[in-house]
Amino acid sequence: MAKRGNFSSKIGFVAAAAGSAVGLGNIWKFPFEVGKGGGAAFLVMYLIFCFIFCFPVLVTELAIGRKTGKNPDGAFKSLGFRNWSFVGKLGVITGVLILSFYNVVAGWAFGYFVEIVCGNFEIGGQFTDFIKDVVKVGGYGLIFMAATALIVSRGVSSGIERAAKILMPVLIIIIVSLIVYSLTLPNAMKGIEFYLIPNFSAITPEVVYTALSHAFFSLSLGMGALITYGSYVSKSENLITSAALITLADIGIAFIAGLMMFPFVFSQGIAPDGGAGLIFITLPGVFESLGSVTGVIVGGLFFLLLSFAALTSTVSLLEVPVSYTVDEHNIPRKKATWLVALVIYIIGIPSLLSNGASGFFSSFISYFGSDAPKSFMTVVEDFSINTFLPLGGLLMSIFVAYVWKKENLNKELETGAPNFKGSFVEKYIDVAIRYICPIFLGALFILTVLEKFFSVSIF
Ligand code: TRP
Repeated sequence: MAKRGNFSSKIGFVAAAAGSAVGLGNIWKFPFEVGKGGGAAFLVMYLIFCFIFCFPVLVTELAIGRKTGKNPDGAFKSLGFRNWSFVGKLGVITGVLILSFYNVVAGWAFGYFVEIVCGNFEIGGQFTDFIKDVVKVGGYGLIFMAATALIVSRGVSSGIERAAKILMPVLIIIIVSLIVYSLTLPNAMKGIEFYLIPNFSAITPEVVYTALSHAFFSLSLGMGALITYGSYVSKSENLITSAALITLADIGIAFIAGLMMFPFVFSQGIAPDGGAGLIFITLPGVFESLGSVTGVIVGGLFFLLLSFAALTSTVSLLEVPVSYTVDEHNIPRKKATWLVALVIYIIGIPSLLSNGASGFFSSFISYFGSDAPKSFMTVVEDFSINTFLPLGGLLMSIFVAYVWKKENLNKELETGAPNFKGSFVEKYIDVAIRYICPIFLGALFILTVLEKFFSVSIF
């Protein structure tokens, strides 16, 4: 069997894992969750959840991965718990499902980059026609999937790690330049105020659980993406400090994405709670108002940034089923990568068609207790992101705490982390994995299933 790859340095590993975490979630979704959830109040909650509840899960995923050197399915088997390997398989399937539609949205971002660079600022008003245009959007999606596969096919250190080491700094430079620019716009400070002054009265139980679910998704947890990345990490690495750096990078980039976005939004007097369409519908108009040259540069940079952020995330999503295929079915990496990418692209076609192109897929099904038909893409999203991720996380924390057991987890964490034993972090992770994480993830799972599929809102 071919030798497995490895990350060649700590910085490369942290960049790749942070690249997985930083994605459309941070730059597209986060600012508007903040917009809906009372500005800074949401930000504070997100921050707290990342540390108290996501960080321990992140650490355990990395530990399982490094201990076994396997993909999520192989990892449970290699720890000697064959009957838990369904959790790993669930993770692989979840990755396939998420990537199938995440790639469609990434294709929009890339398509917008091309349109804006060609000077088509009208694209905002044409959004609904654009996402219906199967040939165009399908083509951009195909290019995006091919770029993802190209990186993954080159392996861990010369593909994933190298791409992340280039893309992540470029991403930060683009965001910082856009912040500097956006602060010069009229009313910029109103945006910053909205973003940074908390309005605690906007916090409802729903906002709390949105923050919880967003933190978990944003850190790429619950499907073994970090088990897979952990399997390429050397035994001399300190997993605790790595996990802390990954968490900080994710929070930091989400935070500065907001600093960039709200001045843009407020400069045009747009409502900050406009939801997901805001980036694709309203922002092109903002860029147009900057004049044709500046608009092309600023708008082009913006959508390039969005595409790069998405790319390091699609890479991690593809890596999970690819490593599974390589490890468990003994197929060489290159072949496995292109095969899996093709299959996922095909699985994504109904999602591609479900934004207006096909009536059947656009109004695919309605859930219990609601007449509103959901698109195919929404259904896949509800199953994968809103159901399987919290379920996977719940099962993983139960597994680690009660089946694999703390002694084994700690042994792996002590490797490369000499100060871990007896530290506060050790005690905290123990409590979190046994009580806090199962309770939070179980609650999240039940609440989202009830709300999404049965239209039952507890709050
Ligand atoms: N975290 C990424 C984002 O914020 C998305 C993502 C990439 C992801 N890989 C993942 C989410 C694995 C869950 C699991 O956009």
